Amino acid sequence: MSNNEIVADSSESLIEESKEKKCIPVNPSDPNTVPKFVDKLPLPYVEKTNPEVDEYGEERSMYRITMKESKHYFSSYFPPTKVWGYNGLYPGPTIEAFKNIPTYVLWENQLPKKHFLPYDRTLHGTVDDPENKTVVHLHGAKVESSSDGHPEAWFTRDFNVVGPTFKRKVYKYDNYQSGTTLWYHDHAMGQTRLNVYAGLAGFYILRDELEERLNLPKGQYEIPIMIQDKSFKENGELFYPERPPFPVGTNPSIVPGFFGNTIVVNGKVWPYLDVEPRKYRFRILNASNRREYILRLSNGAGFVQIGTDGGLIEMPMNLSNFKVMPAERIDLIIDFSKYKGEEIILMNDDVAAPNPGTELILKFKVSKKLKGKDDSVIPETLRVDHGPNINAVRKKRRVSFGVQTDHYGRPQFKIDEMLWTDPSTENPKFDSVEIWNLINPMFGGHPIHIHLVQFKILWRRPFDVENYNNTGKVIFTGAEEPPKDYEMGFKDTVDAEPGKVTRLIMQFKGYSGDYVWHCHFLEHEDNEMMRPLRVLDCCK
Ligand code: C2O
Ligand code: CU
Repeated sequence: MSNNEIVADSSESLIEESKEKKCIPVNPSDPNTVPKFVDKLPLPYVEKTNPEVDEYGEERSMYRITMKESKHYFSSYFPPTKVWGYNGLYPGPTIEAFKNIPTYVLWENQLPKKHFLPYDRTLHGTVDDPENKTVVHLHGAKVESSSDGHPEAWFTRDFNVVGPTFKRKVYKYDNYQSGTTLWYHDHAMGQTRLNVYAGLAGFYILRDELEERLNLPKGQYEIPIMIQDKSFKENGELFYPERPPFPVGTNPSIVPGFFGNTIVVNGKVWPYLDVEPRKYRFRILNASNRREYILRLSNGAGFVQIGTDGGLIEMPMNLSNFKVMPAERIDLIIDFSKYKGEEIILMNDDVAAPNPGTELILKFKVSKKLKGKDDSVIPETLRVDHGPNINAVRKKRRVSFGVQTDHYGRPQFKIDEMLWTDPSTENPKFDSVEIWNLINPMFGGHPIHIHLVQFKILWRRPFDVENYNNTGKVIFTGAEEPPKDYEMGFKDTVDAEPGKVTRLIMQFKGYSGDYVWHCHFLEHEDNEMMRPLRVLDCCK
């Protein structure tokens, strides 16, 4: 056979293949057959409320949000899919709040008794607990302990059964913190991964005067972006694995980490967004169970970051790419003014779990006419807030992560070799400033989230892992690394990188009581990588 013949053959078969592809019906379980960038990016519904004035003349906002099983269209090519949604919606309705004006939410549960995803009964909090237990955590918020969504403060349909730490039906959010992108999601013990995957997640946008004065892109030019990865069955229902791909002693069984093969943004599979040639603000949230993303734009255009988890950073930061671990948020501006007529793809360069297609997230089509002059600005400075004073540090802690094999032959990630039920060891005093050293001798990073606080990353530093494993001593092998350029502001979730100590500083302001801290890989959190955090009253 000559070379020519080979070329001819393969090109012919390519043509055949592409012909075939057109006729292949869409199979939701096979992302190769799913058309990309055909559905518009939806904007989550913003829940309306009438602000009231309470008996003391103070303003407040009241909401009533009900968790329901319902049907959702992930793609115009899919049949409707069963989800669990806040008010039956996926993503949940966006709550808009304003600094210092409290928000009250009556979170209600109308979910059916049986979970529609494989429910593992060997995990803490699942042995006798009802499958439809839920509790809502507002991630990144400073709230009183009884409204924080403690994992054991759960409740079932109509509050029929409630968990041991349940205290109230109506949660109160004081909103006494800087404006930022928060998000609410389920946090029920031992089943957070299933409840969030089923659809229980939504945005909570906290605004403040400082931000309003800045004249950033707003209204239709300010867009929240919730990225999740999902997998589907052939019939369009959500797929979540029943057991890991290795032998385990129970079924169904939790997996060490779920990676979906299909990207979903604001509830749609690989959507597109028509934009005008002007500046837009995007609030990007990774709400995935386990998948991390390294995001960039396909045409090499940059981002101007303006905020982190905890709100605006001091000065805008030019980024060509950035990493978002589960639960992290990045607030940024993209200026499309130079790209009239172009199509730009938001790409994911993370190769930790490659699935063909997951390198694509969302397509921007700069196809709209400019409606009016873009008079929004990217200010030179955004805010001044240096964070806790290092001279005020009252306590330095060391906490370490590790992995063991559990009773059923599964990897179990742990904090300081302890279980959720071991007595609390992180008991900071109210108002105190602390330094936490997160020691990660494992091969992978873990997104560590601490409730109640917004911390700053001081540095990361590599250490001799082998020596540490043998002696428990940390011997540094390299210099202190400053936080990444996109991590300069306040954070509530941090990538505890492998082989490094990550040093944080934080102040336990605002409230005392029972909170938690944990890994935000939801499969780790559900299987013991979570610990109590007890903030002690000042004078006890
Ligand atoms: Cu976003 Cu304790 O969780
Ligand atoms: Cu983890």
